[in-house]
Amino acid sequence: MNRLDAAVIRQSIHPDTERRLEELEVFAEIDSTNTYLLQLPGPPPGMFRVVAADHQTAGRGRRGRRWVSPPGAGLYLSVAYSFAKYPQGLPALTLAIGIAVIDALDEFGVSGVSLKWPNDLVLDNAKLGGLLTEMQHEGRAAITVVAGVGLNVELPESHNVGLDSEWAQRATDLRQRVEVLPAKESLAASVVDEIAKTLADFERSGFACFAERWPSIDWLLGKDVLVEDEQRTIKGMAAGVDTDGALLVRIDNGQRCRVISGSIRLAGA
Ligand code: BTN
Repeated sequence: MNRLDAAVIRQSIHPDTERRLEELEVFAEIDSTNTYLLQLPGPPPGMFRVVAADHQTAGRGRRGRRWVSPPGAGLYLSVAYSFAKYPQGLPALTLAIGIAVIDALDEFGVSGVSLKWPNDLVLDNAKLGGLLTEMQHEGRAAITVVAGVGLNVELPESHNVGLDSEWAQRATDLRQRVEVLPAKESLAASVVDEIAKTLADFERSGFACFAERWPSIDWLLGKDVLVEDEQRTIKGMAAGVDTDGALLVRIDNGQRCRVISGSIRLAGA
């Protein structure tokens, strides 16, 4: 297995991003790149801190799920960024980060990736990766977000992705899509560059400047879904997202419900 090389990632990062990169660390093994960054003080506003690893022993997914992260099988990377003040529509940030990762993949000829609201990267109706965006803001004026990206690059044959998810029964990886896999360092650098641009745009104008792109990458759009959260179960048709990134579900009486969290399944799946 080729180990990730921090110096090579740095060389591949765009100079505009590099100027705002406070620190970039690579670990052969770590519990979770998100957990690691959440334990550190946030970077100064406008600056980034990036951590990547070859292997995570306690990778985490949305809603307390595990993200199984075997050595060398995926890209496991997190970016910490501090906003000077609470940005407009912060809950929609995960969607914008998803668009950033989709754009990074496109640079390597991996097109047609969509996002299953709010954080699943989907290719050929199977899960290619996931996003985990977490906040760290206790007692400070600035708010630090940690955006974690897990991408399946080359899963072992026998790999049960262990997503513990009722939806993602099927996983896919980049190996199934491209003949020559990109170097993980190049992939990491592009993901960091795109996330850096996205965070700057989001800081300026929130989700508004991403909303136009959303319908073209919205995997759920027009599908019949079941949404479950602690309080309720909603059955209806996914109808895009609201201006703040909440999922819209059209129910039988024509009413549209807003969903801000919960697990989303395809009805009948
Ligand atoms: C999900 O699909 O529920 C989200 C998966 C996110 C996984 C990434 S891997 C890098 C970062 N560190 C973690 O522990 N999780 C995220």
